[in-house]
Amino acid sequence: MTSTGRGEDIKRLASKALSKGYQLTESSIKILLERKNPDELLDRLLSWIKSSRPGTILIEPGVVMDFLRTIDGERPPEEQVAKTASFRIKSTSYSDVWIEGSTEEFRLYFTVRYQRIREIFERRGISVYSPSELREQGLKEAYIIGMVSEVRAVKNGYSVVVEDPKGVWRIIVPKGDRNLEERVEDLLPDMVVTMRVRMRASVLVAQDILLPDVPPVPQRRLSGPDVNVCIISDIHVGSSRFNEELFNDFLEWLSSDEDEASKTCFLVINGDLVDGVYIYPGQENELALPSLNKQFEKASELLKKIPERVTVIYVPGNHEPVRKALPQPPIQHRYRELLGQHNGLVYVGNPAWISFDGIEFLVFHGQTLDDVIQSGSRFSYSTIHRDAAALLEFVLRTRHLAPTYGVVTPLLPLRDDPLMISEVPVVFATGHIHVAAQSLYRGVHLVNTGTWQEQTKFQASLGLEPTVGTAAILNLRSMRLSIKKFG
Ligand SMILES: [Fe+2]
Repeated sequence: MTSTGRGEDIKRLASKALSKGYQLTESSIKILLERKNPDELLDRLLSWIKSSRPGTILIEPGVVMDFLRTIDGERPPEEQVAKTASFRIKSTSYSDVWIEGSTEEFRLYFTVRYQRIREIFERRGISVYSPSELREQGLKEAYIIGMVSEVRAVKNGYSVVVEDPKGVWRIIVPKGDRNLEERVEDLLPDMVVTMRVRMRASVLVAQDILLPDVPPVPQRRLSGPDVNVCIISDIHVGSSRFNEELFNDFLEWLSSDEDEASKTCFLVINGDLVDGVYIYPGQENELALPSLNKQFEKASELLKKIPERVTVIYVPGNHEPVRKALPQPPIQHRYRELLGQHNGLVYVGNPAWISFDGIEFLVFHGQTLDDVIQSGSRFSYSTIHRDAAALLEFVLRTRHLAPTYGVVTPLLPLRDDPLMISEVPVVFATGHIHVAAQSLYRGVHLVNTGTWQEQTKFQASLGLEPTVGTAAILNLRSMRLSIKKFG
């Protein structure tokens, strides 16, 4: 559609609504235009408002979203039963979030993050003081909690600046204790940490630094259904580097009667199913399919090969045509229509908490792994094929999917902060960095699922060696997680 055509559509729908006594906001009209037959949809919307929302004159996007949910059930039902095991989308993000992007929203957002992580520490029974209380009460040593705002190497160690709602504090971390030095080297701006500090001649000196971390999760049952959940990511259909042959091997295996394949009843696609367009400068030179429609049609052709026993859950990534700021909503309806309804595809946002027969998965595409790598941390792209599991462990221990803000990934300052790792998942699955890795940390399965795209020029320039052709498989009875390599 041309921009002029779109402008005319907006005018037509606006005046149609006006003629019936309603005023549609431009954002509301744009939501309707995303769908097939927007004129007919507007008629249905107006009669729905008449019966369900009498008194409404100004039709804002929230009203349109409420209406759309009534007609197409965008939110998956509370609990669905697949062929042999149940699954539930516990929480995820949808498109109906509205923010202004003001400084005040971000101030509140970070205050809430501080409070919620503080609660995690307090639940462990640590008595926490603010540095001013420490001074007033003449305490020599105590725990403080702060959000890191700066870490700097100084002559005899490090200077760390932290903030709490009562003030900004500088803490000195002296050289000499390698353990403590390693912990301070891990600190990134915006992380909320506890420090044991000692007052020495009115200078606060760190004795210890603690991350919020996770308590050990007891090893689970051996009584669940003998069903596998398979997780893949970063397929990149449409890229000239997409390894279709290998992906077809995977699809063939999934349809086979091989024991592990035939037990697979769930497939989670954790982002970057398609390569997208205009994602990075010069991408057009690396695309085999230069239009999004063609990419989704091709993806549809591939997904058709998935056997009926498998329920597919699709989480978007940074290459999908959805907003770049986290959390991301599920892909739009116009692309769902191109993808078709194979096996009742379930569309969720990024991140998503999904329970498979009571086993909690935190599924996150992993955009913020870039922010950690690029913020001067101990991680780098050229060694990430060895360190990916350690990177996931680090993120889990910060209890936030975006431990640091302002490097690459935009965030929405939502009050409920869906990027908090409030609960401890049994499986924490990411993708995005295109390397396969797994480990077990305090009972939590950490897994990054590799890719189906051969090394790109950009990755080569970073020294990143992708793991091509891997799928993670978790059995809900044995709780064993393995990475299967194809090709
Ligand atoms: Fe990717």
